[in-house]
Amino acid sequence: MVYQWRDKVVIITGAATGIGEAVVRRLMDESINHVAVLDVDESNGKSLQQESITKYGANKVKFYKCDVINDDQLFSVFNSVKIEQGAIDVVINNAGIMNDSWETYKKEIAINVGAFFFMWESRRPEKGAAPGSSMDPGVYPLNPIGLPLAGSESAAQGVIDAYKLGESGSTWLVNAGEPAADITSAVTRAYEIMSEGTSIIE
Ligand SMILES: NC(=O)c1ccc[n+]([C@@H]2O[C@H](COP(=O)([O-])OP(=O)(O)OC[C@H]3O[C@@H](n4cnc5c(N)ncnc54)[C@H](O)[C@@H]3O)[C@@H](O)[C@H]2O)c1
Repeated sequence: MVYQWRDKVVIITGAATGIGEAVVRRLMDESINHVAVLDVDESNGKSLQQESITKYGANKVKFYKCDVINDDQLFSVFNSVKIEQGAIDVVINNAGIMNDSWETYKKEIAINVGAFFFMWESRRPEKGAAPGSSMDPGVYPLNPIGLPLAGSESAAQGVIDAYKLGESGSTWLVNAGEPAADITSAVTRAYEIMSEGTSIIE
């Protein structure tokens, strides 16, 4: 399957800095129609928006201050993007924190996992998702995984490439300096092995 970024409307969370920011820059190079950048970091988010206006004119990148664990904020931004842009083609669930400490692990789960499920549910076709939305089952969920050594630039390129090449539901591994690799069969096999383990226990 080959997908194109050209002319797509994309929502990406946590993209004021880091991998998300690098993905936004690459999306601009891929002639994207519009990127909605959702982040709690207003300063860097607005800088990225301004950089895009300077390079490409208005409406290519729009920053929304949004905490992804706040359902109302998230839903409101999704609705705004849909109304202003007419559709949402791709959602990149990138916002995350890596902190397993006792003080923050609940917040980590809410950001890294909970927000994804909220977006999934709220984008289901029967709940009014635009046709072609990344969250339409069977159209496009895929799971890019970056290793800590991958670095922002390498990881961002992996996200761009995995979307172009990936089947719906596929899982991709991004390793430093290497092309994004489709590891779906290995992940599927891992789940099969774990399922076998369950039957042994039973
Ligand atoms: N760097 C890596 O190699 C690596 C490896 C595995 C997974 N990841 C994951 O990739 C994603 C991006 O990683 P990164 O290295 O660019 O991280 P980063 O910390 O540099 O950037 C994360 C961004 O998310 C934003 N954010 C945090 N909480 C938020 C919230 N509640 N609502 C909205 N925005 C929020 C931050 O403000 C920041 O801009 C994360 O989910 C991370 O866990 C990264």
